[in-house]
Amino acid sequence: MLDDKQHALLDMKKTLSSGGGEAAIERQHARGKMTARERIEKLLDEKSFVETGLFVKHRATNFGMDTKNAPGDGVVTGYGTIDGRLVFVSAQDFTVIGGSLGEMHADKIVRTQEAALKVGAPMIAINDSGGARIQEGVDSLAGYGRIFFNNTKASGVIPQISVIMGPCAGGAVYSPALTDFVFMVDETSEMFITGPQVILAVTGEEVSSQTLGGAMTHNSVSGVAHFRASNEEECLAQIKQLLSFLPQNNLERPARTECFRDPNEMIRELNTLIPQDPRTPYDMKELIYALADDGALFEVQPYYAQNIITGFIRLNGESVGVIANQPRVMAGCLDINASDKASRFIRMCDAFNVPLLTLVDVPGFLPGTQQEYGGIIRHGAKMLYAYSEASVPKVTVITRKAYGGAYIGMCSKHLGGDIVLGWPTAEIAVMGAEGAANIIFSREIRNADDPEEKRNEKIAEYSEAMMNPFVAAERGYLDDVILPEETRQRLISSFDSLRGKRITTIAKKHGNIPL
Ligand code: HXC
Repeated sequence: MLDDKQHALLDMKKTLSSGGGEAAIERQHARGKMTARERIEKLLDEKSFVETGLFVKHRATNFGMDTKNAPGDGVVTGYGTIDGRLVFVSAQDFTVIGGSLGEMHADKIVRTQEAALKVGAPMIAINDSGGARIQEGVDSLAGYGRIFFNNTKASGVIPQISVIMGPCAGGAVYSPALTDFVFMVDETSEMFITGPQVILAVTGEEVSSQTLGGAMTHNSVSGVAHFRASNEEECLAQIKQLLSFLPQNNLERPARTECFRDPNEMIRELNTLIPQDPRTPYDMKELIYALADDGALFEVQPYYAQNIITGFIRLNGESVGVIANQPRVMAGCLDINASDKASRFIRMCDAFNVPLLTLVDVPGFLPGTQQEYGGIIRHGAKMLYAYSEASVPKVTVITRKAYGGAYIGMCSKHLGGDIVLGWPTAEIAVMGAEGAANIIFSREIRNADDPEEKRNEKIAEYSEAMMNPFVAAERGYLDDVILPEETRQRLISSFDSLRGKRITTIAKKHGNIPL
């Protein structure tokens, strides 16, 4: 039997939990959006959510705020489990003052971040908000600042995931930008520093909010987001999948899953993956699918810089981060966007103890004024830095081209690749045979009776001598040359042998990555 006070408590909790009320909830649903509580319920294990800060109230009095009721101050916070693992969550409640962020709203998020950091568990922030609560002025800005500060403090310690399920504008976009992963939903989510009206007023440019900052824009054009989903349910399912590849924090390793495939399996079809003509592209994803335990790649940033593939696979049950050139797109060249995409992925994997597998078929860095003016030197350097710095096990397989600086940059032995393997088709050289022959035999070609015949002869000569894996293997730059069919077996044994890897680094405050 409950007494009156206990009944009153339950009534109070019920009222506060109903957010902005029925009409606002209906409006939310009519837009194809769930409420903050529905999202949390869908994301977490059944009945695992424990709410904190339900009674928190704003302290604002200006502009009628003194009479404004704001249950939970427009954000739901707490903790629960996903697949039995602890996570902390904040979910902005658009039904309460448009999910706008004031002093106490921010305080709830800050406390949740701190709780997650203290115990070493992932933090998931669901954004659906009109931004800084205008009535609260500088207190709202202070709130954002505190969140950004904590995002930075937690970076590399716990996985931080941002989910955009509504508007996210102005400086509010910088919390997601500071986190490890940004998820967006088609049609309903948007991110921008200044919206379409401001752009129209300032520059005269007309653009819709979706074209400016919708899910596809940030997934394929800007590279701000990592995942897109066609609806909220799909988005929440993606988050769960992502977490399965990550540990709770930087002191742990990702959980191992059971593998039902023979670790010694030979994959015969890989022997014919590389086309006879070295200029013919093939799909690097076929190799990744063939290597993965369940034939699946969980791709990160699948729509951005598709000339490089980044994502997670399971290899004999272990979570492995894959970075692979994609010969089907721009011949697998490295450009500014690919360098940024890969570098960020490498650093994230390294921070969270996910071993790195690099699959190489790269003809070089993309030439051109656009790339040079855009700073390909600075962006490409990020890859060198990220690979050199990464202390997780690093295994590399060169399937075909590995030319010049791009060869070095794709986790070669020289950047600390622990085990580097080559296929018989690997061509490790300063550049392709044609380019090389044209330069070093230019006089002979020019002076020949038949320059074309001479050129072909010299290309063949250079090719024969240099375009193979054995020159590198002779110097120990490759640990072995293997048959393609052996690749999965060799990768499993390589990562097994590297499980105890420990390296010591010189004590320093932090490095100075070329940003
Ligand atoms: C206070 C806000 C608010 C805000 C929305 N509301 N945004 N209240 N501060 N920032 C309130 C509305 O007054 C309304 O209250 C309720 O939320 C729902 O908003 P609607 O406008 O009815 O909803 P909708 O038509 O869906 O439009 C959503 C919206 C629009 C596009 C987000 O509300 C909007 O443009 N809001 C302002 C966005 C903005 O300029 N924010 C500041 C950005 S600058 P009632 O009581 O009527 O239900 C910023 C700086 C951060 O954030 C800097 C950090 C460093």
